Amino acid sequence: MDMIPQNYYTEAAEYIRSKMPHTAKIAIILGSGLGELGEKIEERTIIPYTEIPHFASSTAIGHKGNFIIGKLGGKWVIAMQGRFHFYEGYPMEIVTFPVRVMKLLGVEILFVSNAAGGINPNFHVGDLMMIRDHINQMPNPLIGPNNDDFGVRFPDMSKAYDRELMAAAEAIAQKEGIELKKGVYVGLTGPSYETPAEYRFYQLGGGDAIGMSTVPEVIVARHAGIRVFGISVITNEGWHFDGNYTNDAQEVIDAANAAGERMATLFLGLIAHIE
Ligand code: HPA
Repeated sequence: MDMIPQNYYTEAAEYIRSKMPHTAKIAIILGSGLGELGEKIEERTIIPYTEIPHFASSTAIGHKGNFIIGKLGGKWVIAMQGRFHFYEGYPMEIVTFPVRVMKLLGVEILFVSNAAGGINPNFHVGDLMMIRDHINQMPNPLIGPNNDDFGVRFPDMSKAYDRELMAAAEAIAQKEGIELKKGVYVGLTGPSYETPAEYRFYQLGGGDAIGMSTVPEVIVARHAGIRVFGISVITNEGWHFDGNYTNDAQEVIDAANAAGERMATLFLGLIAHIE
């Protein structure tokens, strides 16, 4: 939905660059469960989104958010602590604004993480699922005039998730003794959780996990040629279609946090692998 003037992106990037002690090739969106990894960032500079030009609208709903720039596993990274969700009422161009700013800052690889409901009956609470593909059920963030400065009108999505990084992650998981499931992430707007019929619908449609984020950022990143690697923490089991099952947001958060250490190990392994 590119109605955002180009100078908004460049001014935001310019401001962040002025505070960055070093450039970063790797960006991380710290979703539910990855807060732990954020704590491991050293020599950190914290930039609240509220300070950044044109990020101002993010304060409207009082969403917590910072960029953390620093060293992780010996490499410079730029991490987002807090992301924008479509269900909060932000337009897609705001949801994905930070990804384009990252691109202008020189980011080449984006790690994304999220909490998701498992719809594959082999998935259980606490499992890690490497996202091997997605099904987009949200408005496409690229609707509107194409922004040629970032990418082409009809970007390819046949390899949205980087195969080389996936192979590396599988090797790291094996070496570290971390069980890593693999699957298709279905991105929905939320905020209501799915009905049993909807969980079943998306299961039959080829999904393995369902969530309310990530897909817009991935589409915009791929449009701009950024390589993507994604992990979901399975925080609830949506495949119990018997009606004896309810979703609770606090349980989702607790399950995501419990997986934090394993997610951090995987991401650190990948960071070490890059270059
Ligand atoms: N559905 C959608 N989003 C989610 C879920 C779910 O079951 N769990 C965590 N995020």
